Amino acid sequence: MSPLMFYTRSGIALRVNAVKTIVIFASKLGSTRRVAEYIAGKIGSEFIDLKKNPAPDVSGFDRIILGTGVYVGSISKRMIAFIKNADLSGKDVRMFVCCMLKGENGDEQLRQINDKYGFPVVSFYGKNKEPPSVTIDEFVASL
Ligand SMILES: Cc1cc2nc3c(=O)[nH]c(=O)nc-3n(C[C@H](O)[C@H](O)[C@H](O)COP(=O)(O)O)c2cc1C
Repeated sequence: MSPLMFYTRSGIALRVNAVKTIVIFASKLGSTRRVAEYIAGKIGSEFIDLKKNPAPDVSGFDRIILGTGVYVGSISKRMIAFIKNADLSGKDVRMFVCCMLKGENGDEQLRQINDKYGFPVVSFYGKNKEPPSVTIDEFVASL
């Protein structure tokens, strides 16, 4: 975590640890890219498209937000490869998926993705994929 220094008017230095966050996404059809860019814009972080950079260096980041579409019950192959090879130990990793399944089937799909990768996962679907949406904003507020 990189410390930020603030000085009060009376000259007292305050040290605040800023969480360095990056949004990393894999998108085939564009929805996940749009959501990733929206979230990155909201929190003022960088975002990386795994299509352009399949193995980004995340060593300088404390919090990693992973975004991926769901295809035939699975997250993107590029995202799977990234998770397998990246050193994410000690980092706060969150995941969002863009998908079409909702209701019970959607919950089950989300549970399976969570079980497989272990990160807290939320899903955005239908109109919620179009930012700004309350759901996406709630996710941002939870960070
Ligand atoms: C080939 C294909 C398979 C899909 N399979 C699923 C699925 O198993 N579950 C689901 O919820 N959505 C599924 N979807 C819907 C996508 O997850 C959804 O369109 C998502 O927004 C795609 O993200 P993207 O636009 O970033 O690629 C599928 C879409 C495609 C094209």
